[in-house]
Formats: sequence, structure tokens, C-alpha cells
Amino acid sequence: MDKFIIQGGNVLKGEVRISGAKNAALPLLAATILAETPITITNVPNLKDVNTLVKLIEGLGITISYDHNDVVKADTSTLNNQFAPYELVKTMRASILVLGPLLARYGEAKVSLPGGCAIGSRPVDQHLKALEALGAQIEVEAGYVNAKVDGRLKGGEVVFDMVTVGGTENILMAAVLAEGVTTIRNAAREPEITDLAHMLVKMGAQISGIDTDTLVVTGVEKLHGCEYAVVADRIETGSYLAAAAITGGCVKTTHTDPILLEAVLEKFEEMGAEVTRGENWIELDMQGKRPKAVSFRTLPHPEFPTDMQAQVMAVNTIASGFSTISETIFENRFMHVPELSRLGANIAVEGNDATVTGVDKLSAAPVMATDLRASFSLVLAALAAEGETLVDRIYHIDRGYEKIEEKLQGLGAQIKRVSE
Ligand code: EPZ
Repeated sequence: MDKFIIQGGNVLKGEVRISGAKNAALPLLAATILAETPITITNVPNLKDVNTLVKLIEGLGITISYDHNDVVKADTSTLNNQFAPYELVKTMRASILVLGPLLARYGEAKVSLPGGCAIGSRPVDQHLKALEALGAQIEVEAGYVNAKVDGRLKGGEVVFDMVTVGGTENILMAAVLAEGVTTIRNAAREPEITDLAHMLVKMGAQISGIDTDTLVVTGVEKLHGCEYAVVADRIETGSYLAAAAITGGCVKTTHTDPILLEAVLEKFEEMGAEVTRGENWIELDMQGKRPKAVSFRTLPHPEFPTDMQAQVMAVNTIASGFSTISETIFENRFMHVPELSRLGANIAVEGNDATVTGVDKLSAAPVMATDLRASFSLVLAALAAEGETLVDRIYHIDRGYEKIEEKLQGLGAQIKRVSE
């Protein structure tokens, strides 16, 4: 199992190129199922989760190539089944996103229920309820979702009980081929959904209300292929800016977009960082300063994203002052807390609220990654800790951060991967 060995204390400086967004690439790949003619997606990050979904799509019989230099080409004319097996879905829960497109285009799908994961039970009840509203017959049996529809899905009214990114993506990819008009209310507004809607429109879909919480889709008969570039990864961007904040450095993230993470940039400014916004770059300068502690609650976009909670908490552990963090999206997303405490952080958790009292210095210790974003928060803390920290189970981090050690080494971090 791979581990990182990190020598803390270096001030991070320099430029880092941001990759395409994992959480946009996954729905965009699922949407290739809808294309009648060949489709090309560029700026696809080379991540474990992306490779898993490519494998699953291949398993449908689709001819798909991924050159690992960020280009995916897919041709659905060879599709010969609509089955997404548990073996693959259990390793990457976003595989559930093939359900909507398969149902919309082929009228049936058998997709394994994704298990829960470390951060919560993460049910898909909203996905299934929304598809039933469009006429799908759905039964769940032996851990599989068996879905089918006689003829085409019918447009209808969908109202989500809570904001769900995956649920919005699944129903959007179903509605674009449904007969008639579908209105999706309480839709998620994350930039990754906007990216998916833009690609669907480029494929011939008719969608209005993009970027709002009410999407109106007029179904069409067919969708054609196109060439589309994945939007920049706002969470990767925020993660590397946090590395500058926690080490008192100065980092410029390129091939990104400040609009994607405005709520996060405002928190970094509240910490005392100097944030400069360019058209496709962002620079964070914390040189010679100790961050000030910032309190926040995670909420759906455009508010502060849950995927940045662990990373900003890590900066708070060495900030001056006291902060409170409320996690309102997932029921168990504080697993980085006991590991950060092993490095000397002073954090108390009460339900979904954490209170952090900044300490002057963290000190190295062996720690263990538990989930994707928690892993990055441990790397951040290790970069600031005195001594040599070993971070175990970093397979979690490989799911969502492309070339992480090269990118951090490029900024002056002392980090190396050891395989045992
Ligand atoms: C997406 O997960 C992201 N993953 C997550 O990023 C992100 O944390 C999350 O959205 C919230 O922004 C991808 O895009 C691949 P949700 P998703 O449906 O779609 C509950 C990362 O680190 N819910 O918006 O699964 C659910 O349990 C990952 O990159 C239901 O109860 O999230 C959660 O508490 C982690 N029933 C809340 O809603 C449902 O049917 C938000 O979930 C669906 C969701």
C-alpha cells in the first residue's frame, strides 16, 4: 500500500497547473452514452475514478479510448448491454450516473446500488424518485437497480427534497431524451452541473435555466457527438491555494477560473491572504503572515463547498484564534479530525460542528488517510508540521488528485511516495 513521507517546514512557492475537474469528468463520461455519433472529451484528468468509469463504460460494449494525456473518445454504436456490475460500482459510487443515460437512450438499465462510503450512507433515493417521475419503472433487488420504460421517458415535474449533485446530473441526462418538457426544481448549481449542461447543449439538447436551481429541459429525439473540454477542478485549485496558506508561501494556480470557487477565495482573504484573481489563474500570497482562523458552514454552491472543509480546517489548526466549522452536507465528514489531532491539532467535535483552537506548531507523526479530501488535509498539515510525517493509505488521494507529489514537489515541498 502506497504511503507519503513528508518533511514539513518548507514554504511553498511557484506555479501549479490545475487539471480538469474529477466531478465534471465523471458525469461528462456518463453522458457519452447519449451520443449517437462519436464524441471527444478533452482535459480529462488521469485519476483512478476516471479510469474506473472508463472501464465500466467499456463493459457496456461502447468503444472508448483514453490516451491518459487527457483525451477520451467514445463511440456508442457498439454498445451491447446496459449492465453496470457491483464489482466496479462499489469502487466508484458515481457509476450510478450511467443509470439516467442508459434508461433515456435504451429504455432499460441494471445498475448496482453504490455502497455507502466513509463520509456517509449516501443513498440514491432522490435519483430513483426523479426517474420514476419521468415514467421509469424501478425495482431494487439483490443490490441492483432494475430500471425500464416502455417506449420513451415522458417529461414531467421533478422536485428534489434536498440539493443533490448526482441526482440533478442523473435526471438531467435522462430528461434530454424524454418526450416533452421536464422541469427540475431545487436543482444543484455546482459548476460541474453547468459543465454537463453545456456539453449536452453542444450535443443538441435543449436546456434553459442553466446555473439556476430550476432547469427546464425540452426533450429531443437524438443527441450527436461533439468535442468538449472538462472545466477546471475548483477543489484541486482550492487545495493548492490552501497549501500556500498553511506554509506561509505564495502559489499561483493556472488553467483554472476564480469564478468557480469565490466563496473559498473570500475565506482565504478573511484569513489574511492576499488573493489576486486573473482570467484563468489565481495567486494566493501568505508570505510572512500567520493565517487568522476562519469559521464557516458547508452549503450547496455557490456557498462554501463541503469538498474544501477538511483542507481549510487543516489551515485553521495552525491559525491564530478560534474557529467553528459546521458540516451540513454529509453526516460523517470529520474523519480527518482524529488524524489531525495526532499531529498536535486542537479540535473538538460535537455532532456536525467542529471547533478548532489554533496552535503555534504541529509536530510530525504517522497518520492514516480515510477519504479523498481528508487525505489532502493530512498532507497540508504534514507540510506545516515539524519533522517527518508518514501518511498511509494514500490510495484515497489518488482518486482525485492528478500527479499530486509532482505538483507539490514543483512548489518546493519535500514529499515522496513509498510503496510497500
Ligand atoms: C457529489 O457527490 C460529489 N461527487 C462529492 O464530491 C461532493 O461532496 C457532493 O457532490 C456534494 O457537493 C461527485 O460529483 C462525483 P449529493 P454526490 O448527491 O452527488 C444526500 C469528492 O470529494 N442524498 O449532492 O454523491 C447525500 O447523502 C466527492 O470529490 C440523499 O440523501 O452528493 C448527501 O448527504 C465527495 N439522497 C447530500 O444529499 C440522494 O438520492 C448531498 O449529496 C442523493 C443525495
